[in-house]
Amino acid sequence: MNNLKRTWWKESVVYQIYPRSFQDSNGDGIGDIPGIISRLDYLKALGVDIIWLSPVYESPNDDNGYDISNYQSIMDDFGTIADWEALLEGLHSRGMKLIMDLVVNHSSDEHVWFAESRKSKDNPYRDYYIWRDGKDGKEPNNWSSFFSGPAWELDETTGQYFLHLFSKKQPDLNWENEKVRREVYEMMTWWLDKGIDGFRMDVINLISKVEGLPDAAGEGQYNFGGDYFMNGPRIHEFLQEMNREVLSKYDIMTVGETIGVTPEDAIQYVGEDRGELSMVFQFELMDIDSGPGGKWNVQPWTLSAFKRIMSKWQNDMYGKGWNSLYLNNHDQPRMVSRFGHDGEFRKVSAKMLATLLHTLQGTPYIYQGEELGMTNVRFESIAQYRDIETLNMFKEYREAGHSVENIMASIYSKGRDNARTPMQWDTTAHGGFTAGTPWLSVNPNYKEINVAEALSDPDSVFHYYRRLIEIRKQQDVIVYGKYEALLEQDERIYAYTRTLGEERLLVVLNFYEATVTFELPTTVAYTSFEQLIGNYSAAEHTDLQRLELRPYEAQLFKLR
Ligand code: NOJ
Repeated sequence: MNNLKRTWWKESVVYQIYPRSFQDSNGDGIGDIPGIISRLDYLKALGVDIIWLSPVYESPNDDNGYDISNYQSIMDDFGTIADWEALLEGLHSRGMKLIMDLVVNHSSDEHVWFAESRKSKDNPYRDYYIWRDGKDGKEPNNWSSFFSGPAWELDETTGQYFLHLFSKKQPDLNWENEKVRREVYEMMTWWLDKGIDGFRMDVINLISKVEGLPDAAGEGQYNFGGDYFMNGPRIHEFLQEMNREVLSKYDIMTVGETIGVTPEDAIQYVGEDRGELSMVFQFELMDIDSGPGGKWNVQPWTLSAFKRIMSKWQNDMYGKGWNSLYLNNHDQPRMVSRFGHDGEFRKVSAKMLATLLHTLQGTPYIYQGEELGMTNVRFESIAQYRDIETLNMFKEYREAGHSVENIMASIYSKGRDNARTPMQWDTTAHGGFTAGTPWLSVNPNYKEINVAEALSDPDSVFHYYRRLIEIRKQQDVIVYGKYEALLEQDERIYAYTRTLGEERLLVVLNFYEATVTFELPTTVAYTSFEQLIGNYSAAEHTDLQRLELRPYEAQLFKLR
C-alpha cells in the first residue's frame, strides 16, 4: 500500500451523464431528468458507483447548460427540482452517489448578477464580473476566446468591455471580489445540504487571473492567454478557502477540470495535505493528436507518446495525489474512434481500451455510451451540428479561406458533437432516445449499436465493462498497487504490472489491428498465472513468456 488514505472515491467508478442526450421522456427531443430516472436500473446493472451529472441548471443553452442563469433552479427542458430530488433519492436508494457540475469560472450573461452588472459602472454587482476600458479603440488585451474570436465583448451601455474566456454569453466571474466567492460558497452549501456527494468543477484552474491582464504572446490578432489565467496567482488560496468554508464540512468527492496542468501542478491541487480537491482531470492525453495550430490541427499520435503520458501521470502522482482516468467525455471525440478501431474491430478495441481504463491507478470515468462502444459521427452538412465551439470554428476557418472539406475532416475527428449524439437505447426510431425530433440527430449506426443489443449479448462491450468493474472491486491491487510500465518504446503493445505487497497483476494490450507477439521481460517473475479477464473468448493463453496477441487483444493476468 502506498501512503495514501483509503477512501470511497478511490474505490469507485464514475459514470458521466450528459442530460440533454441521455433519455427524453416527454417527446420534446431533449433528454431530461425523468428520462434519467427511468434508466437508473440500467446504471445499477452496469455497476457504477457515482453519477456525474453535466449541468442541469437554468440556462439559455448557449453552451448546453455550461452557461448558467440561475444556479439554484433546474432548467425547464430537464424538469423540476422535485424531479431532481427524485433522481437523488433514486440513486441513493440504489447505493449510488451523485456529483453535480459546478460552473463558476463564468455564469450566463442572463444571470441576474450580470444583468445588474452591465447596467452601470456603479451598480453593486459591477465587480462581480471583469470589466475594463478598451485600448486604442480595441479590446483591453489580445486574448482569444476558447470558442474563437476575442475574449472581450464591448457593452454599449457603459462603453466598457467584459471578459469571457468562452462564449460572449459566458462572462467570467471576478473571483477577486470576496462577495462573489461568498455567493458561490453559499450556493455550494445549499446543494450539499440537499445531500449531493460532490462536485465536478468546470475549468476551475482558470478562476484566478494575473493582475493587469497582460497581452498574450503570439503573432495572431488574438492569442491564447493561458499564462495569465491557468493556475493563476490566487488559485490555491481560493480553493483552500472553498475547502475550509464548504468542502471540508462534508464527506464528498471533488474533481477539478484543470486544463494545461502537469503532474507537478496537479499535486498542488490534490495533495492530501493541501486541503483542496480530491482529484483533477488532466488534458495531456487529450492533446496528443493536436498540432501546433491547436485542437483542430489534427495530427497522428503514437503509442509510445501515449504511454509516456500515462506512465508519467501514474509514476509522478504515485503516493502523492490521486489520478482521474478518462478516455473521452462530452468535450472529446469517442474513444473507440480516436484510440481504437471503429470498424471491424470496434467491439474488441472498445474492450481493450476499457481494460486500460479500469486497471490503471485512479478513479475511472465512463462517459455515457462508451460502455456500448459508441462511435464518432459524420454528419454531411455543418447545418446538422449544434456545438457552439464547432460552429464558431467553422465560420472563422471559412472566413480565413479553409476548404469545407478540410474543416469537416477536423470536425469528424475532434468535434464535440461526436460525443453528444443521443444515447442509443434500441432499434426503434431515434434509437429510443425520443418519441419526438432529437435536438441533435442520432448516430445512424444505432440499429447495430444500442443498449438492447448489448444487454442481450453476453459478449457485449457492456457486459465486459460490468465484469471489469466487478474485478476492480475484488482486487485492491488495481486501486492501490504500484504501476510499472514494460516495453516502453513498443509502438503496438502497451503492457504494465501493478503490484501491492504480494499481489501482482500483468496487463497486456495490443493497440494494433493485426497479430503481434508479446515477449514478457525477464524482470517479471512468477510461478503461475491466472487470467482475470480478456477480450477474446476462444483459446486461452498457456505460455506467458510469449503471447500471440490478436488484433486489439487485451489480457489481464494475476501472477503468483
Ligand atoms: C468545460 C466544459 O466541459 C465544456 O463543455 C464547456 O464548454 C466549457 N468548460 C465552458 O464551461
